[in-house]
Amino acid sequence: ADGPLVLGIETSCDETGVGIVRGTTLLANVISSSMDEHARYGGVVPEVAARAHLDAMQPALEAALAEAGVTLDELDAIAVTSGPGLAGALMVGVGAAKALALATGTPLYAVNHLVGHVGADVLRDDGSDLELPTIALLVSGGHTSLLHVRDLVDDVELLGETIDDAAGEAFDKVARLLGLPYPGGPQIDRVAADGDPAAIRFPRGLTLPKDLVRHRYDFSFSGLKTAVARWVERRRDEGGAVPVADVAAGFREAVADVLLTKALAACADLGVPRLLLGGGVVANARVRQLALERCAAAGVELRVPPLSLCTDNGAMIAALGAQLVSRGHAPSPLDFGADSTLPV
Ligand code: KG4
Ligand code: ZN
Repeated sequence: ADGPLVLGIETSCDETGVGIVRGTTLLANVISSSMDEHARYGGVVPEVAARAHLDAMQPALEAALAEAGVTLDELDAIAVTSGPGLAGALMVGVGAAKALALATGTPLYAVNHLVGHVGADVLRDDGSDLELPTIALLVSGGHTSLLHVRDLVDDVELLGETIDDAAGEAFDKVARLLGLPYPGGPQIDRVAADGDPAAIRFPRGLTLPKDLVRHRYDFSFSGLKTAVARWVERRRDEGGAVPVADVAAGFREAVADVLLTKALAACADLGVPRLLLGGGVVANARVRQLALERCAAAGVELRVPPLSLCTDNGAMIAALGAQLVSRGHAPSPLDFGADSTLPV
């Protein structure tokens, strides 16, 4: 394999990711998660995440270099997520990347986390190339965004994003109110399998006709979460048992429906026959199934990278860095900071 040898560092949320690629070939993808430390709080605690990155960074770096069988001085470039994400968490990765770049004289590239999720697609080993343009639906505990990607390096447009909670966050919060452990997404998914998705109809946020003008591609999940909370409360007040499986199935259906309705509307409106999925919520069985069904019906090609590349990881950042190097882009001046709201 050829192409530049690039190390990628990702610390935007609770995963410390260090990946190494050569061009579009994945050499190492080491991930250390602080998820367990956040469990008792029911969500990611920023300072806890930042401290965990500091602890995990050096071991993850060494493990990635060992896995790839390369040394620091062989690297052609280093890429790091500079945003968006949790400020303190980002700073640990940016600081580590700058230190490495300075110490070894390696060019450093600051990259966008969301675009990194799209970049992950080039690492698929099924031999198929990422075709552009594509619509990208990126859904995790930290973000819910719809992108129009015409060029991976310099033509990515944010079509819409959540105006309140991320979809994964909604899964985690609803799981909590149903008494399921953190992270709630996989739990809801498991429980929902035994429920009837049509038993309770929960609201689809921002899909009213008036919303489809101003917020056509934006998402909102806090109203849905509240609707579930109210429903459960009412049932408990009435002294009835909460049908957890039906609530989970109805909630999961509402989330999946909104996500894919908006993603496919973007494909249709913009005439883009391709949809790429990314982020931890892609693990959701109903999201995947509905994506398959709706894309097939609409004649849209569906791209779903393997889950290890969908959740936050360093390899996707390295892959994006390699694209920048291959295209002859100049490295970032070393004075860049961590930008929690970095635009695409
Ligand atoms: O991309 P990811 O690993 O990173 C962060 O956002 O940090 O996504 C984690 C999120 C969590 O909110 C988790 O509950 C959700 O993805 N998630 C799921 C499933 N698996 C993980 N949500 C729904 N269904 C799942 N099967
Ligand atoms: Zn992410």
